[in-house]
Amino acid sequence: MPLDIRERFEAELAEIPDDLFDRERFVGGVGPADADVVFVGEAPGANEVEQGEPFVGNAGRVLDSLLEDVGIERKQVYITNLVKVRPPENRDPTSDEIEAWRPVLWAEIEAIDPAVVVPLGAFASREVVERDAPISDLRGETYERDGYVVVPTYHPAATFYDDSVKAGLQEDLERVAEMAG
Ligand code: URA
Repeated sequence: MPLDIRERFEAELAEIPDDLFDRERFVGGVGPADADVVFVGEAPGANEVEQGEPFVGNAGRVLDSLLEDVGIERKQVYITNLVKVRPPENRDPTSDEIEAWRPVLWAEIEAIDPAVVVPLGAFASREVVERDAPISDLRGETYERDGYVVVPTYHPAATFYDDSVKAGLQEDLERVAEMAG
């Protein structure tokens, strides 16, 4: 059964201040309610807003191809974002936005209760592992947060400019595939 974020987290969504919740730019998480893996991106982009689904643009294509390489089926994982409203001009999410959307993210993770949480990129990784460090330092290790196994890794968009990032992301996703078994 897919998790219906608007219905399931109505109470958490109602708490988001109006100025941080432009409904025209909102994209919720997508995937089965009993997924073994939850991926957490940064924030939706224009393609995601247009299609109403996370990771459907260029970064999504990289993610899809790496998931296929490591044998993870996209339709079996839950994919969401740290901040669920597209920031203007795709700027970085602000700390106010991250704070406002935090309860929804953790409600999603708790509802799904996955075997592994995989934050993609620096912003999501810092939130989930509660460490303020560059993503290149955070990735490559396994963490525990609130009883969840966490494998932080690079954001798929970071692979556009750097092949070694792509290799690192693939390596991390291979570990995730083994854990999700
Ligand atoms: N980048 C993200 O972080 N999330 C998306 O949904 C798409 C691109």
